[in-house]
Amino acid sequence: MKAGSGINIGDEIKSRCNIVDVVGRVVALKKAGSNYKGVCPFHNEKTPSFVVSETKQIFTCFGCGATGDVIAFVERYYGLDFKGAAEMLAKEYGINLDGAFRGSKNKAELYEINRQAATYFFRALRERANPGYTYMKNRGISEEILNKFGIGYADDRWDSLYSFLKEKGIQEDKMMELGLISRSGERYYDKFRGRVMFPIMNTSGKVIGFGGRMIGDGEPKYLNSQESDVFQKKNNLYGLNLASDTVRKEDAIILVEGYMDVISLYQGGIRNVSASLGTALTENQARLIKRYTDNVILSYDADEAGQSAAFRGLDVLYKEGCRARVLKVTDGKDPDEFIKKNGRGAFLELLDKAEPYGDFKINRVKSRYDLDDDQQRIDFLRGAVKILRSMKAVEADVYIKKLAAETGVSEGAIRFEYSGNNSQEKGFTRAEAVLGSRGGDDTDGTDIPPVEQELLKLMLLDARFTAIPDDTEGELFHSSMGRVIYEAITAIDDGKRPIDEYRLQELLDEKSYGYLGLIEKNVITPGREDEIFKEDIATVRRQNLKDKEEKIRIRISMADEDENQEEIVDLMKQLMDIQMQIRK
Ligand code: UTP
Ligand code: MN
Repeated sequence: MKAGSGINIGDEIKSRCNIVDVVGRVVALKKAGSNYKGVCPFHNEKTPSFVVSETKQIFTCFGCGATGDVIAFVERYYGLDFKGAAEMLAKEYGINLDGAFRGSKNKAELYEINRQAATYFFRALRERANPGYTYMKNRGISEEILNKFGIGYADDRWDSLYSFLKEKGIQEDKMMELGLISRSGERYYDKFRGRVMFPIMNTSGKVIGFGGRMIGDGEPKYLNSQESDVFQKKNNLYGLNLASDTVRKEDAIILVEGYMDVISLYQGGIRNVSASLGTALTENQARLIKRYTDNVILSYDADEAGQSAAFRGLDVLYKEGCRARVLKVTDGKDPDEFIKKNGRGAFLELLDKAEPYGDFKINRVKSRYDLDDDQQRIDFLRGAVKILRSMKAVEADVYIKKLAAETGVSEGAIRFEYSGNNSQEKGFTRAEAVLGSRGGDDTDGTDIPPVEQELLKLMLLDARFTAIPDDTEGELFHSSMGRVIYEAITAIDDGKRPIDEYRLQELLDEKSYGYLGLIEKNVITPGREDEIFKEDIATVRRQNLKDKEEKIRIRISMADEDENQEEIVDLMKQLMDIQMQIRK
């Protein structure tokens, strides 16, 4: 466990709030033996299998596998991060959090500075003729939409914003903290110059950062605010503040890749749309979505990068309990181009036809094989079955039937292959992995374990090491910083090495980027890369198994011997299975 104020605060909160009260406000709980029981709020069920233990101060669901403490519950139920959940509970229970989280005192000030900057850019786009306005007009964006999204312009002088903010009495270090300015020697200069400015707002409508698009061609195309106390990409979605009402009404959200996709769709009358801010979709973003809807349609760019991002995004969403589908535009490279050319009706037609999770994943695997060839058909089935194993049994069943019809291989044979290794996969969701790494989730937890350091180093050396085995995916990095860096690497990975340092730096906050630099320099793998990779993966697998073992033990200890007999037997089997694997 990492030492850090976040942890102490976590303990403080846990000792002061009773999980039964907190859960009991949103879930009807009934006393059952020494525990409380109710209908799980994290998945659809009729008979209650959600158990809260007052003595252990944890919850667990025998249906979907969600487990955690009071903070984990609040995080997940309200779609907050650790800090947000801690703050919510602290406020309610009168716990003083002052200074507990680095920088939380000056957050209000940072929001205010961002708001001033946004106002400045906003006016600059409107007051007199400027390239930003012309550019957006040429892209067909209306006055109304420019206003709605608060779009602005950063001119190409060196210190326009800096002078403006300085005049308002704002300190340079705050501007630096927000990534609005940089310093060179004794001089400060604006970071965003000659760009169309897209303010990024959180769901309370506060400006947390900016994306600035270069006018015309140039690198980088978009410059984004650096991570700060008020801006964490992984926790936010662009446009959600404007979309959220429609998302609730339509009970669905369309996720796109780019700022311009959001804006064009919105202008085209598709208003339940947000973008994941140029990173791979994160768990936290999925949880944020779940505050509004369980139905997600991924509409990423039509190119290979977009489609493989969708492929990965699906898993993240699925693990968080969302129903996800994929919409691929059939004309133009992205939803922006598509809707401009074809209009709302055509987009809605595509929406109707969006492929469900399983179809999309299986079809993607299928496209790599020639089904007329016997051997390839078998290889395809192996790949498909792997995908089925990540699904709930009922869903997998539907696909087994489909696959049988499609390949002419008997249902029985597919089922046999499917059940072969299925036992250890059952019923465990990502939530538990998060719980297992709570120590890495606090804001000060910056240590990356050696295994993770080595893996990151290998990924920087060669793109083939970013292809990590399915059974460890998502649980490879337990430290929060390791995970953030890994997400950044995969988000920009184009298979080439050396990796694009500039984008890496842009995606990561200073601390993570600095840490990565140290890893790059200090971790050495002299000619033994493949060997080390194998060892690391094995280590991670073992650790994951141990974590699972621990979770199962907790669940068994919480189960009600009379009511949960079946589950207990099932859990015991899983436990034995895992212990056997660990011994191997
Ligand atoms: P795209 O290049 O698809 O963006 O990148 P876009 O919105 O369609 O851009 P236009 O239409 O050419 O203006 C998708 C997203 O990835 C992030 C941005 O969030 C962008 O909207 N990105 C892209 C960056 O952060 N930096 C870049 O240099 C490029
Ligand atoms: Mn685009």
